[in-house]
Amino acid sequence: MNAETQRANEQSARPDVSTIDMSIEALPPTIRWVGDANGHLELLDQTRLPQHREILQLTTAAGVVDAIRCLAVRGAPAIGVAAAFGLLLGVREQAPADGAFVAETREVAARLLVARPTAVNLCWALDRCLAAVAAEPTMQRLFQEACSIHADEEAMSRSIGQYGKQLIKPGNTVLTHCNTGRLATVGDGTALAVMFAAWRDGVKFRVLADETRPLLQGSRLTALELQVAGIPVEIVADGAAAGIIANGEVNLVIVGADRISSNGDFANKVGTYPLALACAAHQIPFYVAAPLSTFDMRLPNGRAIPIEERDANEVTAFRGQPVAPHGVGARNPAFDVTPAGLVSGIVTDVGILRPPYAASIKTALAESR
Ligand code: MRU
Repeated sequence: MNAETQRANEQSARPDVSTIDMSIEALPPTIRWVGDANGHLELLDQTRLPQHREILQLTTAAGVVDAIRCLAVRGAPAIGVAAAFGLLLGVREQAPADGAFVAETREVAARLLVARPTAVNLCWALDRCLAAVAAEPTMQRLFQEACSIHADEEAMSRSIGQYGKQLIKPGNTVLTHCNTGRLATVGDGTALAVMFAAWRDGVKFRVLADETRPLLQGSRLTALELQVAGIPVEIVADGAAAGIIANGEVNLVIVGADRISSNGDFANKVGTYPLALACAAHQIPFYVAAPLSTFDMRLPNGRAIPIEERDANEVTAFRGQPVAPHGVGARNPAFDVTPAGLVSGIVTDVGILRPPYAASIKTALAESR
């Protein structure tokens, strides 16, 4: 079967799906590669959470592109890992002749790269794979690189938790936005990793989770992850957050990032910037948590970060149900950019970076090489 036919089949028939236990217990892995280089990719379908826990079984790059586009897999680090395995699947489909391996890998990488534009981890993971096959153009080398990207992201997640957990004090109320936990990464997460690590150390606190319009990653995913972990959580409508911060109810806001430019400006889920403004107005600490794979040193500042504009239907309807009058249009930027000047610190896998960020980011990246 050629790649086009296989793609058409995957789109029309929906990927192979197995429904699993829906009880509140440990969530299945966000991303799992099954078998050796001839195996397949399993993704927990996040569009179906929290009501359904379904696993997508993918065998083609086109299937992975579709899963990234529709947010079946989402969150910057998770997108990068999924893309690395998607690259492996795509190159395997092409079965490149001797001498064409690197060129075919580049072609498949280009198709994966355009799946979503804002999270730089996608580009970072594909670049790592391309560098690996340039040195050794074999399926085995590509497989090894995808597996080591998976392992590295997991380790980065753990370190973020360890460095960031000191920020949360007993009795604190922590507010967060979107989803930055196990579902957004292949480890404990970024902002949520900080909370999981503090909780494991016995620090008692509560979380307010912005619902995160329009796709509700906060209420569907963050609330689920915190509930599974036993951490007290309440959902707040996005528009309520600034007022709650102004009332003095919040001790700390911590969010993730999809891309951080070289001066510390960063893009994250739309609705992050208003939180940073509210924190600045009321002297509340505002932290970002992200692995070094989320920094993009090619960009001088946040204005250069490409912002994904998604389909207006996501704003005017939810899961097929209209929530606006028929025929009304909508703007749907998926991310916004927060200037570095509003950020108290950036929790990374090598420590907490402080202003001036141009210098602290440069040093952190140089020392990690
Ligand atoms: O559109 P999404 O759900 O992929 O957006 C995710 C976010 O904005 C996260 O905050 C970000 O990727 C950091 S996740 C560790």
